[in-house]
Amino acid sequence: MQRRRMQRWARGLAGTGLAVSTLHSAPAEAFEGGFRGDVGAFIGYRFGGSKSGLTWGLEARALFTDTDVECGSSGVLPYLGSVLRLDFDNGLQPALGLALAGGAYVNNFTATGAEGGVGYGFGERGGLRPWIGAEVGASYGVLRLNYLPLQGGLGVNAGLRFPSANREQGGCFVVGRPRRGESGIAPLPGLHIEGQQGTEELGDLGERLVQVWSQRARTEWASAPAFTELAVHLACAGAPSSLIQRSYEAAEDELRHGLVSAQVAARFDGGTVHLQPQADLPRRPADANRARVRLAVESWMDGCLQEATAAACAQAEAERCTDSRIRALQQGIAQDEAEHASLAWDVVRWALQVGGPEVHDALHASLDAVPAPVAPDNGRAAQSYGVLGAEAHGGIADRVHSESRRIMQDVLRRSDGRVRLTT
Ligand SMILES: [Fe+2]
Ligand SMILES: [Fe+2]
Repeated sequence: MQRRRMQRWARGLAGTGLAVSTLHSAPAEAFEGGFRGDVGAFIGYRFGGSKSGLTWGLEARALFTDTDVECGSSGVLPYLGSVLRLDFDNGLQPALGLALAGGAYVNNFTATGAEGGVGYGFGERGGLRPWIGAEVGASYGVLRLNYLPLQGGLGVNAGLRFPSANREQGGCFVVGRPRRGESGIAPLPGLHIEGQQGTEELGDLGERLVQVWSQRARTEWASAPAFTELAVHLACAGAPSSLIQRSYEAAEDELRHGLVSAQVAARFDGGTVHLQPQADLPRRPADANRARVRLAVESWMDGCLQEATAAACAQAEAERCTDSRIRALQQGIAQDEAEHASLAWDVVRWALQVGGPEVHDALHASLDAVPAPVAPDNGRAAQSYGVLGAEAHGGIADRVHSESRRIMQDVLRRSDGRVRLTT
């Protein structure tokens, strides 16, 4: 019975997706290929007999990546580029060098690379300085090992670079429950506008609104299979049928949110918006208690935090909106997202009841795992069309996150993890 219901919902989901989609989608990138630069400062120590001593310096890099990276995708992204570096050995002896650098962004926040270059040292012990090096960077930090064969010295440097090694440097603002894959947040579905006409009436604001509402359509659309997956994983973990049913209903809500958001984008643009189908479920259910831990932690992060934030923001957007059609739409979305957040809390409570200490400890460990999201600044004028400014959004997100954390601490205090219900 349960299986038949799941199949029916999955077919419905796939059918709805296909009915409004085309295959020639052109998803927006979170990290566009091309040249990007950074600057840095470092300090270190060079080991080389009598030439041992403190080193410090400044550098500038120009790197090229030829691949665009989808929002939320993971994997290795190679880069190639050049480095201009000014070193000061033993505190004050300057050396200027130029190097060829190659490496890769290993995931969204770390990078590793190697370099080979030649420089010239000025002063008493100056002269030609070829060198090779290897480094690893994480966010703003970098740790590098250098070898200078002519000087017979091995150096170790630690430094800071701006901007950071984060490869997701914009465009990855996701509202509501994200769709997850085996290695993190799954790429967003594609969106393509056919017969694009532009937005003469509203100028730059119109273009911005098309971008924001298109991005919203993609994130809402991605939430639908996230909920279908939630329903399947809840069923496999032996959850009550009411939770499974509500997850399927939430998937329907998200399909509707995706469609109406795409309609708003189309309204501002004048073209026809096509959303890519995405009915697949990327992850297999986990076994036994591991499933409950995952369901609890993800419901906390994606529902109790993300969807509660989405609900509060949609409500605030409805209140500030002067466009009556968008206001009504945002009010409906706010109600649905609040129900999705409530579903997440119920999943957490169920998982705590049946999962025992492992679920309790995992939730406790993930209390601060998700920072409040920082929205892009869309300007004050966008508020009239249901889009909050970054400051207002940040205030709401901070409030919701701290309130949800307080509730979670309370829930965890009451359930000390020693009571486990057998199912
Ligand atoms: Fe939604
Ligand atoms: Fe939602």
